[in-house]
Amino acid sequence: MSTPSLTLPGGTWPLGDLAVTRFGYGAMRLAGPWVMGPPTDREGALAVLREAADLGITHIDTSDAYGPRVTNELIREALHPYPEALHIVTKVGATRDEQGGWPPARRPEELRRQVHDNLRSLRLDVLDVVNLRLGDAEGPRPGSLAEAFGALVELQRAGLIRQLGVSNATEEQVAEARSIAPIVCVQNMYNLAHRHDDTLIDRLAADGVAYVPFFPLGGFTPLQSSALSAVAARLETTPMSVALAWLLRRSPNILLIPGTSSTAHLRENIAGAGLSLSDEDLSKLDDIGVGSTSAN
Ligand SMILES: NC(=O)c1ccc[n+]([C@@H]2O[C@H](COP(=O)([O-])OP(=O)(O)OC[C@H]3O[C@@H](n4cnc5c(N)ncnc54)[C@H](OP(=O)(O)O)[C@@H]3O)[C@@H](O)[C@H]2O)c1
Repeated sequence: MSTPSLTLPGGTWPLGDLAVTRFGYGAMRLAGPWVMGPPTDREGALAVLREAADLGITHIDTSDAYGPRVTNELIREALHPYPEALHIVTKVGATRDEQGGWPPARRPEELRRQVHDNLRSLRLDVLDVVNLRLGDAEGPRPGSLAEAFGALVELQRAGLIRQLGVSNATEEQVAEARSIAPIVCVQNMYNLAHRHDDTLIDRLAADGVAYVPFFPLGGFTPLQSSALSAVAARLETTPMSVALAWLLRRSPNILLIPGTSSTAHLRENIAGAGLSLSDEDLSKLDDIGVGSTSAN
């Protein structure tokens, strides 16, 4: 294995007036199996959060629906009072049912309640960034977001939210949100093998809006590709490291939020994302996503 240094790779990116490290941390994996209930290793979960902050990560992605409430309460316990530079990005628009499903909850009164739930569980007076989560577990779904997004804009005007974003959104919904109020980020599923948002990423980059891929490592189905494994073997590293390094290279507006419940994996991912990839590696990796792109 190569042993690159543990400096956070990628530098920083502005989410509006909030600067965050491009290497962030996705906290969803800290809840129990299938993101329900408490973690199997509570001390281990707290240790991952403290390690992330100690290593200089200033972007943590969460939701009160993780657990539900479990992840936010772990973040509060591990890190409150929060370091000034740390920015917690949360999302609203779905709740949990008893089977672990993610039913949508996007009526204005439901969104107001979720914003207040996040404020309470994170023990904050103002949420730094709130994403409106659209679509469903299968992905984005078409339809106007005006009423739901308008409710969040009102909460922003009331001083409860600093910056807004959207998640699991179609390109049309991103455009509709931007016609109503500025957004600082779009959080959609994207990785080496799932490239539906290629055009959107480039458009957002041109306008200075962050793109935050969820499932950067494949999520519940780890990325598998012989081309990826071949590049990783040649660089004497793991496919996950290569997948993260590729995302950081893909576009300057891409922010990483890989999820892990392990401090060892967190460190491995930071080191891996800092790998330098040659033009030849990049062209082999780019071929993996061929066929997975569409206009969305
Ligand atoms: N907006 C949305 O609708 C939405 C949906 C899903 C996720 N998200 C956000 O996106 C973040 C990232 O997604 P994700 O966590 O589901 O998927 P991911 O980052 O693609 O993958 C996480 C999985 O990879 C494993 N892993 C991480 N680093 C590893 C390493 N170095 N070696 C081996 N295994 C490794 C983790 O297991 P270990 O715990 O064992 O490391 C975990 O099972 C979430 O945490 C959440 O904040 C948002």
